[in-house]
Amino acid sequence: MDFTDRPRRLRTDGVRPLVSETELQASDLIAPVFVDATTDERVEIESMPGHERVPVDESVDRVREVMETGVEAVMVFGIPESKDETGSRAWADDGVVQRAVRRIVDATNAYVITDVCLCEYTDHGHCGVLEESAEEDPRLTVKNDETLELLSKTAVSHAEAGADMVAPSSMTDGMVGAIREGLDEAGYENLPVMSYAAKYESAFYGPFRDAADGAPAFGDRRHYQMDPANAREAMREVQLDVEQGADVLMVKPALPYLDIVAEIRREFDHPVAAYNVSGEYAMLHAAAEKGWLSLDEVAHESLLSIKRAGADLILTYFAEDIAAQL
Ligand code: PBG
Repeated sequence: MDFTDRPRRLRTDGVRPLVSETELQASDLIAPVFVDATTDERVEIESMPGHERVPVDESVDRVREVMETGVEAVMVFGIPESKDETGSRAWADDGVVQRAVRRIVDATNAYVITDVCLCEYTDHGHCGVLEESAEEDPRLTVKNDETLELLSKTAVSHAEAGADMVAPSSMTDGMVGAIREGLDEAGYENLPVMSYAAKYESAFYGPFRDAADGAPAFGDRRHYQMDPANAREAMREVQLDVEQGADVLMVKPALPYLDIVAEIRREFDHPVAAYNVSGEYAMLHAAAEKGWLSLDEVAHESLLSIKRAGADLILTYFAEDIAAQL
């Protein structure tokens, strides 16, 4: 036997950490937090073990729990007290996210990011203003340009409440530009936008739609979210968001789309975020409950893989558990 290269030489315990290429840190992680205006008690989210919707009154406690694990950034999602056709509670000054964010920034040093979308706020559950005959005609769903102003107003109201960053997730064409313009006009030139730039029409969002009560009442989101078959199109989506002023580029979901994460990492200089979504979380929990997988190990390996693929930031329901272990 005459091998010159034997990779196993660098796999002994002493040298492994020295040659490790990727390291997961608590400072890479963002924890999603659900604030619910319809309850005054915490409500467990059945399909996402360990996660709860908390009332506005407990939003500060919830964020403190996150921070105790070493995670310093949160993404706030809101469940409003009422829904209507346009989703007007999304930009209300006394809306659920606005009230929660005011308290959180007052009481903690957390870095507060808000999800900017309308699907939790519209009675039809779509991410924008509906076409007149959308309910009858499955080829129609959301009016693009009419939705932009509402997203912009929502982002500005989050900024006014004290959000540190806004994250539009509606996949409306032009959303980043409209939000950037709205923020700049309102004096928030320094507030960054993290765009859900390549967000796929994915079946992995199922548990989230229960958690945030945002499932569409009819139809689906395939007219605005991306086709899972497409990779080159993701580069166009990202390019458009970069031109419109996106500061951070997100891919969602994460694990089934690591090729997209890697490609964006290669092609763009911006920080890349990946959203390890509700279904990715729920399936590991379900398998672990059956004793088929070791939860901590697969969770860690998942996040490490997302980072190795090129993500700088990871939005994940595992944030607290993993950070506590690191
Ligand atoms: C809102 C939004 C969704 C998620 C984040 N923001 C749902 C959707 O698009 O249906 C999903 C997150 C997850 O599954 O963890 N547009």
